[in-house]
Amino acid sequence: MPSTEVVIAKRFNNLLRPLQVHIHRSTVLAGELAQIHHVDVEACELAAGTHDLFRSEPDFAQISTAEKYGIPIGDIEMKTPMLLHGANAAAWLENEAGLTDNRVLEAVRWHTFGWPEIDDIGKILYLADKLEPGKVTADPSLAVIRNMADIHPDKALLALLQKRVEAQLSKALEVHPLTLALIENLKSN
Ligand SMILES: [Fe+2]
Ligand SMILES: [Fe+2]
Repeated sequence: MPSTEVVIAKRFNNLLRPLQVHIHRSTVLAGELAQIHHVDVEACELAAGTHDLFRSEPDFAQISTAEKYGIPIGDIEMKTPMLLHGANAAAWLENEAGLTDNRVLEAVRWHTFGWPEIDDIGKILYLADKLEPGKVTADPSLAVIRNMADIHPDKALLALLQKRVEAQLSKALEVHPLTLALIENLKSN
């Protein structure tokens, strides 16, 4: 059986170039942030390197993959199947690539919404995914949060989550309960 790295690399190599670039930039930033904040660098890089392996799957494939792995599909995911890509990637990594580190699997699973019990690896992935250089270039208002991430990662995380809530509400989209629960947790800390 091919190694976890080979199975992951094979899937990565089939992604379109812009997504590969985003994953690569996220991985570099995850490594940097992990080092600054004394979090497991290897685990953070692995989470960032695999978080979007299902990002470009079409809606029907998101749904069928979720069904295949028994992932619950809520109303929010049914409306926007792309939101399943983290859970689908985590299930695939566990079942097809033999990835066993639960911290990495959880970070990948919930990277779109965040989750109330988020750990340090989940936080680093969330920050790296949303703040890699391509994202800041596309939205220069993120520069302040990017700088914050080096010093106050929890504050940066809260700012990103609040930005996400605003964006969802402005599009009249429902905010995932996990995101709201995480915001409450961060506020009370
Ligand atoms: Fe993603
Ligand atoms: Fe991403």
